[in-house]
Amino acid sequence: MRVFCVANQKGGVGKTTTTVNLAAGLSRLGQRVLLVDLDPQGNATMGSGIDKRQLPLSVYDVLLESASVAEARCASPQGGYQVLGANRELSGAEVELVGVERRNERLRSALAAASADHDFVLIDCPPSLSLLTLNGLCSAHGVIVPMQCEYFALEGLTDLVNTIKQVHANLNRELTIIGLLRVMFDPRITLQQQVSEQLKSHFGDKVFNTVIPRNVRLAEAPSYGQPGVVFDPSSKGAQAYVEFAREVVARLAPADTSTSGAA
Ligand SMILES: Nc1ncnc2c1ncn2[C@@H]1O[C@H](COP(=O)(O)OP(=O)(O)OP(=O)(O)O)[C@@H](O)[C@H]1O
Ligand SMILES: [Mg+2]
Repeated sequence: MRVFCVANQKGGVGKTTTTVNLAAGLSRLGQRVLLVDLDPQGNATMGSGIDKRQLPLSVYDVLLESASVAEARCASPQGGYQVLGANRELSGAEVELVGVERRNERLRSALAAASADHDFVLIDCPPSLSLLTLNGLCSAHGVIVPMQCEYFALEGLTDLVNTIKQVHANLNRELTIIGLLRVMFDPRITLQQQVSEQLKSHFGDKVFNTVIPRNVRLAEAPSYGQPGVVFDPSSKGAQAYVEFAREVVARLAPADTSTSGAA
């Protein structure tokens, strides 16, 4: 089981869209996926076709150890993956976990108990570096960072990269950046091309080859409770996310070979 956080403390950069569509894309490739919604906004839950107001159990119950992942997860009706949902109740967990033992590791232990059931766990983080995001980062092998190629993008990245380094040093030695994903990209905008080039020169092959275009079908899909990949598979946005899912799977494979080659 590989656990990835989709994180960026900036709001509205495409974290949820990426999590939901990568989950659906990986499912289409035959992978068993669990999406964990770690955002009290519950957008990934709703975007997976699950009503956040009707959740019998949620990630909140898992964090407070009153339910297991197996008890609290439910199937996305059309996405092909499982969802550990979230709603407003989750914002309470932030306060309730303060002063509790192993508060950073609650999610990690809960996921470990369900590791036989999933090939991939994708965690949709809230737009902050809060205790919830920390629980995500402490549970993960890697971080996927969606970003728009805008003027302040590189600046914001420094904070995130530093946080990831600190978590790596102090809390989770396994954590690495899997890659940066350029989203909502419009090649006609010169500034976006320039920032994209800067990204590649700073971060090299940490920048995913796949680029997600700005595509209205991806923005429309959540109101139908479907990932864009399911809602309109032929749209440019859906195709890009399926391609991205292939790239994520391919990126994991060579790492395994190089380790065995070195041994
Ligand atoms: N490639 C895209 N093309 C067009 N619209 C997009 C694309 N990706 C995301 N959007 C839209 O941009 C908005 C923000 O996206 P999203 O909710 O995924 O960001 P987020 O980082 O999860 O936001 P938050 O920080 O609030 O959790 C949404 O309305 C979404 O539908
Ligand atoms: Mg979101």
